[in-house]
Amino acid sequence: MSLHTVANENEIPIGSNKPVTVAGENILVFHLEDGYYATQSNCTHLFMPLKKGKILDGCTLQCPFHRAQFDIKTGNVVNWASFPPGIQLVNSIRKEKPLKTYPVTIENNEIRVDMTETESIN
Ligand code: FES
Repeated sequence: MSLHTVANENEIPIGSNKPVTVAGENILVFHLEDGYYATQSNCTHLFMPLKKGKILDGCTLQCPFHRAQFDIKTGNVVNWASFPPGIQLVNSIRKEKPLKTYPVTIENNEIRVDMTETESIN
């Protein structure tokens, strides 16, 4: 297991995220009502940054560019890119793809992200 401390609990208010680079990966650490979660920091649609994405329904992240929506807890696509009109042409070559997620644990008030899977691939 490869745990990396990325923040203290009081650094990320509920409903927000913190971008961090850990083990060579850019990730976002989210604080939701029921805990902390981590995802890759760029959208799987056209790789734009998700840090300013809107959180809908408490756990769905909407990309600010073409409005793809992802479940922050699982990374699964909730709705694929839908904006602006005509984006479906791009979608014909950019198929739905989930976000990578990373396990998060809390220890001694520290938020730790497990990068084991990523490090074993690189
Ligand atoms: S880059 Fe995120 S929806 Fe297109």
